Amino acid sequence: MLFLALLLAACGERPPAYPERQPPRGFLEDPTHRAAGADLFRRKCASCHGSPAEGRSGRADFFQPPAMDFTAAAYRTRDPAYLYWRIETGKNAEPFRSRGSVMPAWGPHLAEEQIWQLVAHLRGRAGG
Ligand code: HEC
Repeated sequence: MLFLALLLAACGERPPAYPERQPPRGFLEDPTHRAAGADLFRRKCASCHGSPAEGRSGRADFFQPPAMDFTAAAYRTRDPAYLYWRIETGKNAEPFRSRGSVMPAWGPHLAEEQIWQLVAHLRGRAGG
């Protein structure tokens, strides 16, 4: 029983597995795609992930877990495949579902190219 509890605890620490994928070569650095991603971000993401000047909604401050700040430098080097997976599946994937995430799953609403454009914008948006 103790062994099982330890095993479960250990699993909880492990980052979730997500599919490997890659955008076309040069896509994430392409200014046209970054600009398209910035436009999508303003329209679909800034209400939760943006600054108040970008239209961040007051209710976003009460989300638990909170909507992260993508200007954090760590996002510059986040694995693009991880960011893609989080945008695609949102709160539908574990462990985020159990934690009470409100992050929408965008997979059914956005084309693959649009999700990569958002990834390009998030990595470009992050501070250096
Ligand atoms: C209704 C508010 C809301 C909207 C709109 C929203 N998100 Fe989120 N998002 C969240 C919250 C809350 C989290 C934190 C919980 C979690 O990780 O699931 C999150 C998590 C994420 C993560 C995971 C980051 C990490 O470090 O694990 C990414 C990436 C993300 N959002 C991207 C986006 C993008 C891109 C859009 C627009 C297409 C968007 N979100 C729209 C609320 C939102």
